[in-house]
Amino acid sequence: MAVIAGKTLTAVEDCEFRRYNLLHTILYTLRPFMINVAILGATGYTALELLKILLRHPEVTVTAVTSRQEGNPPVSSVHPSLVERIDLPLEDLAPQEVASRAECVFSCLPHCASAAIVSEVLAAGAKVIDFSADYRLDDAQSYLEWYGHEHPDAGRLGSTAYGLPELFRQQILGSSLVANPGCYATSAILPLAPLIKSGLFQTEDIIIDSKSGVSGAGRSPKLMTHFPECNESMSAYNVGRHRHTPEIEHIIGRLTGVKLQIIFTPHLAPMDRGILSTIYIKPKQSIGESDVMDLLRAAYKDERFVRVVDHLPATKDTVDTNFCDITARVVRGRVLLISSLDNLVKGAAGAAVQNFNCLFGLPEALSLR
Ligand SMILES: NC(=O)c1ccc[n+]([C@@H]2O[C@H](COP(=O)([O-])OP(=O)(O)OC[C@H]3O[C@@H](n4cnc5c(N)ncnc54)[C@H](OP(=O)(O)O)[C@@H]3O)[C@@H](O)[C@H]2O)c1
Repeated sequence: MAVIAGKTLTAVEDCEFRRYNLLHTILYTLRPFMINVAILGATGYTALELLKILLRHPEVTVTAVTSRQEGNPPVSSVHPSLVERIDLPLEDLAPQEVASRAECVFSCLPHCASAAIVSEVLAAGAKVIDFSADYRLDDAQSYLEWYGHEHPDAGRLGSTAYGLPELFRQQILGSSLVANPGCYATSAILPLAPLIKSGLFQTEDIIIDSKSGVSGAGRSPKLMTHFPECNESMSAYNVGRHRHTPEIEHIIGRLTGVKLQIIFTPHLAPMDRGILSTIYIKPKQSIGESDVMDLLRAAYKDERFVRVVDHLPATKDTVDTNFCDITARVVRGRVLLISSLDNLVKGAAGAAVQNFNCLFGLPEALSLR
């Protein structure tokens, strides 16, 4: 029997694991020489990060980049760091045209706009990795409640693979649509999942306190992210109503069958990028720091991009990398989990490429530093 993350698999799990490995090998062997990909919403921050990673990907050709801008300017005119690295015009393409040029489409569009286009791209036969929140929740009612409008493609909710390979690798491998996780959600779900799975912790009264760099709000100018408003200043926002709250609860529920109740408070921090999350959770019975660290280490010991560290993580340790760093402390009987990641990489584009590699049976770390 195989041993994964310190646990010997049962006969059924072992059989599934072998089937997964076989499918992975077949996909990798049969893959076409280069995989054509397209990017929707290519003028945004996550798309720039994605382009930078894809341009060093040895198995990928970028064949289309879309925008609503008129006149088909080169993508490098919007992202000057791409000058002499990519020679593609921004085009306002119909979903069918995008699908005809690419086997895989990355949607870097805002929620709602994304699902409306993604549903047509899928119907035209391409695979999709969606950066928006449109396919992350389990049901249309929750989407309506938290996003304030009807879901444009409600039929796919609840059955879409959630793009955290560390926790949902097998579902991603066989799918045509991957819901790339929210950046705050990744910083909370990765540390919380092993603890909730262990059954040793209370599932109510979990407090998640997160700080994010300003690029988390996207490129469109807003008062809150205007330089004089956010520079040299920190503020909480969307208290009690941030949309990653149901995402964290739904995804942990999907993974463990446990209904969580969290209080999630995001803060805007005066930095370009990075997320630091501190999570407070109560054990059912007293637990030592080393036991919590052992739970985390056992869960992620085979994972390339999750580092369980002894020191207190800082955002600068993970900036421009696909790592999520996690540690644990016990203070007055309560467990504190602290995580750091780059919202534009492990929180968006890096995770998307990790998912892409997984979808196409490529080595998962390909082109990810
Ligand atoms: N920023 C992050 O850290 C982060 C992390 C994880 C996930 N996400 C998610 O990833 C997606 C992209 O985020 P981002 O930060 O890159 O956003 P962004 O910088 O605001 O870029 C979004 C792009 O989508 C296009 N767009 C905007 N509204 C549109 C509409 N109604 N129809 C079609 N195209 C539209 C815009 O291109 P044109 O105006 O040129 O057409 C824009 O360049 C969002 O869903 C976001 O929630 C972001």
